[in-house]
Amino acid sequence: MSDPVRQGLHARLKHWGLSILGTSSAALAVTAAPAAESTAPLNYFLHAAGPASAPTLLLGWVFTAICVGVCLIIAVLLAIAILRPRPPVLPDNVGALAATQGGINWIYIGVGVSTVVLIAMLVYALITLERMAAPNDPPTLTITVTAYDWWWKVAYDDAPDSSQRFVTANEIHIPVGEPVRVKLDSADVIHAFWVPTLAGKTQTIPGQTNEQWIQADHPGVYRGQCSQFCGAQHAHMAFEVIAQNRADFAAWSAQQAKPHASTSSPTSMASSSVAAGQKLFEERCAGCHTVRGSLAVGAQAPDLTHLDSRRLIAAGMLPNTAANQLDWITHAQQIKPESMMPSMILSRDEATDLSAFLATLQ
Ligand code: HEC
Repeated sequence: MSDPVRQGLHARLKHWGLSILGTSSAALAVTAAPAAESTAPLNYFLHAAGPASAPTLLLGWVFTAICVGVCLIIAVLLAIAILRPRPPVLPDNVGALAATQGGINWIYIGVGVSTVVLIAMLVYALITLERMAAPNDPPTLTITVTAYDWWWKVAYDDAPDSSQRFVTANEIHIPVGEPVRVKLDSADVIHAFWVPTLAGKTQTIPGQTNEQWIQADHPGVYRGQCSQFCGAQHAHMAFEVIAQNRADFAAWSAQQAKPHASTSSPTSMASSSVAAGQKLFEERCAGCHTVRGSLAVGAQAPDLTHLDSRRLIAAGMLPNTAANQLDWITHAQQIKPESMMPSMILSRDEATDLSAFLATLQ
């Protein structure tokens, strides 16, 4: 196991250990969702942070309470049945004896009560489904998320003006307090889109567009995850939803919509390194990646036009630092085995130039 992988695993195990403790104590408190912390893997799944998830959370607790109640009642009745004194039973008069002792009545009462409770649970579940099917107000934004082995393409493609449309990856920004429609597609196998604090799971199926809506009541970072087993790196197919106030969201969108400012006429040493990096990128990476404003228009990998604006890379695996970018580019297959990104072989100079170019992808 290579060093970065071992270190990453170590950090993760440590974090999960702490998260499990955090979840159980937090679950008892059932408070409103805290601002989700990105590196904590889904440890807020027992919290709701928006109107698309709150009804399911309540449903979950009510059903849990009913099931616990049923178990307790059965345990008490069983204990009474075992402990109470009774006359000896002859094999041929079991039914008659039960009838004289009111046993048959208990069966009727038991079936009646369970039927009423089960029907009530069904009606409550249907009402909850109906409440979550659509937001009260029409969505203010529609985005299209396409799942790939093992990352997420996010297209902001509903702006009337095509210059305002753009594509990004693994990081979904939404305006806080507003319902957002998410159209869900898959490019390869079946995945499932799940941001536990914001909404339930929805499958992404090749050839079919599913829909769900999400809404965050508070600004924050909400972790999402593929929740349908989809292959070797299923566990490393995460993403983040970042809820921002309207002004911040508008500023982010405007920045994302801009193409990369090309570096075709180098004037200094530094910019000549950037230009060399761009050329290398266009030769070696453009088959898969896009950087809008350059010759790179690949469609099978994350759009890197504003790579440096993202918090994480490789679908939530690594913090987005220059060192991690280079480590990922040269060791993709060790960090995320079987991922669709090959480990690239770069000389020291090539690595320096490429890093200089990637640093301009703000
Ligand atoms: C054969 C296609 C392919 C080539 C060639 C390729 N990549 Fe990738 N790259 C991918 C795929 C697919 C991913 C997503 C992998 C994942 O997260 O599972 C990716 C992810 C990345 C990421 C992380 C992006 C993010 O937001 O998570 C960076 C950075 C990156 N590649 C840079 C490069 C650079 C630089 C080159 C050229 C030196 C390159 N790639 C060549 C397919 C490719």
